[in-house]
Amino acid sequence: MTDSEIISDWAGQPAPLLGILHAFHDRDGALTDDAIRATSLALRIPLSDLYGTVTFYHHLSRGEVTRDTPRVCVGPVCRQRGSERLLEGLSDEGAIPMACPGRCDDPVPVIRGDRVEIVADGASHDRASPLPPVNPVGREECIFADIRAPRRFTLDGYKKTGGYEGLKKAIEMGPEAVIHELTEASLAGRGGAGFPTGRKWQAVKGAAEEPKSIVCNADEGEPGCFQDRVILDHDPHALIEGMVIAGLTTGARRGFIYLRYEYPRARDVLSAAIRQAEDAGVLGDHVLGSDYAFKIHVGRGGGAYIGGEGTSLLNSLEGKHPYPRNRPPYPVTNGFEDLPTAVNNVETLAVVPQILRRGAAWHVGLGLGDNAGTKVVSVSGDIRHPGNYEIPVGLPLRTLLDEWAGGAPDGHSIQAVTMAGVSGGFLSGEDLDVTLDEPSVREKGALLGAAGIMVFDDSRDMVDVARSVMHFFSEESCGKCFPCRIGTRRMYERLEGGQGPSEIKEWRAEIEDMAFTMRATSACGLGQAAPLIIESLDRYFPDAVEQHVMKTPS
Ligand SMILES: Cc1cc2nc3c(=O)[nH]c(=O)nc-3n(C[C@H](O)[C@H](O)[C@H](O)COP(=O)(O)O)c2cc1C
Ligand code: SF4
Repeated sequence: MTDSEIISDWAGQPAPLLGILHAFHDRDGALTDDAIRATSLALRIPLSDLYGTVTFYHHLSRGEVTRDTPRVCVGPVCRQRGSERLLEGLSDEGAIPMACPGRCDDPVPVIRGDRVEIVADGASHDRASPLPPVNPVGREECIFADIRAPRRFTLDGYKKTGGYEGLKKAIEMGPEAVIHELTEASLAGRGGAGFPTGRKWQAVKGAAEEPKSIVCNADEGEPGCFQDRVILDHDPHALIEGMVIAGLTTGARRGFIYLRYEYPRARDVLSAAIRQAEDAGVLGDHVLGSDYAFKIHVGRGGGAYIGGEGTSLLNSLEGKHPYPRNRPPYPVTNGFEDLPTAVNNVETLAVVPQILRRGAAWHVGLGLGDNAGTKVVSVSGDIRHPGNYEIPVGLPLRTLLDEWAGGAPDGHSIQAVTMAGVSGGFLSGEDLDVTLDEPSVREKGALLGAAGIMVFDDSRDMVDVARSVMHFFSEESCGKCFPCRIGTRRMYERLEGGQGPSEIKEWRAEIEDMAFTMRATSACGLGQAAPLIIESLDRYFPDAVEQHVMKTPS
């Protein structure tokens, strides 16, 4: 395709910037100066702004690094599996390190452009996300209830297991009743912040401006989280159905799925599912024969953890630099193109059809004790059976780790876990006796959030684990607010060693001061949550921290 064909292909579409950049990137193997100049002219984005945006995304290549340069995951779990040796082994191909691409239940992944290679036993291949393991006690599931059915990813397979019945019901019920049902079901956002979905949709429905949008957050950049990927790979119609119901309920007629760059297979699966849904009249001008219209566009991210933060994602989708926005105003009134928008996570949207089919009371009853519903938890690291487990909210962490996921490998015990991927800090010792619900986890000083749990056995050096996590935060801080930009860097340097106070008392006072400032003044959750890793490291492993600090030259 010529430059002008690429641009005219995209220019009339909503949210064209990333589409154009990806088209040039795919065609040329990197983003050339000519391509950037052509894009700048076509979209009237100042050249300097566009360079700033392009260089922000890890997977948009320029210069010597190309689209096909191998990227090797060096996330906490892959490091346990020797990814740094693999990186070294690929050095003659110019391999570079990459943050966690959401495959912690598989051997170390290497990404080359659209190819994801899983390198195991000398063999190299890509594969769909492993299906979720069935829990050993036969506990009833909600979102995973039908995901293992044959060919569930096709329209026919989906319909055979109750697919699109929730949408039919939503059309009969009408928007107010849908919102009431979700509120009664206590559905809270599964992307990390836990905001009640019924309230979010009510706010978008009540907002005056048009057109409204539904934006699905499929960026899943949190290390140790891979639950959205299994839904995208195996149950794309559940997500589509949830989005159409969200549109019908809020009055939105356009939907966007912002998919992380590192999930090329999911993009193919989603595109095929969207085409099937269009052909079957589930999407289009008359959804299931009604007067209601809804369309879905898929946008591909460029590789930036902060792009998963809801307002950063909106800026990215709009073709702006992906800084998080200051709030208020909130996306429900001022979201995509400054118009009312519901930003929801993949799991949140995909669970909605099941709730409408089976009812709010059924969903509430799935939880344990006073807790409602279920949550998919990604478990990885030093554990016999890694994978995505749909747990009743309120399940004891130890039950999940020891009885469902098989416990630590032979001869080892669990030393610590991370919570909320890495954003929730560590839990260790007696605090592993916690139940998996947000209030209980918070009581221990951690966060459940998006529910990624990485396990570290007693052979692991926890200071080193914390160091690699802090390195991730310092690399991924978008830099908009300096307490986060500088604080994450300083914390990483303190864990790296060789800099900062060599007296433990002063070291701790400095960390406390930085953590306080970051929490109080950071504009988004990254800077607010990042200190938890270093604070919880010191809480559970004070001796190891003291020894580490003593090595610092005075
Ligand atoms: C640094 C950061 C990264 C985030 N990454 C994601 C993500 O990858 N996926 C996601 O759904 N939510 C992510 N979130 C949460 C979103 O901002 C937002 O709360 C969520 O998408 C709303 O959907 P929900 O209400 O359905 O959970 C992130 C938040 C922060 C602060
Ligand atoms: S807290 Fe950090 S990641 Fe968030 S906006 Fe500020 S600098 Fe960016």
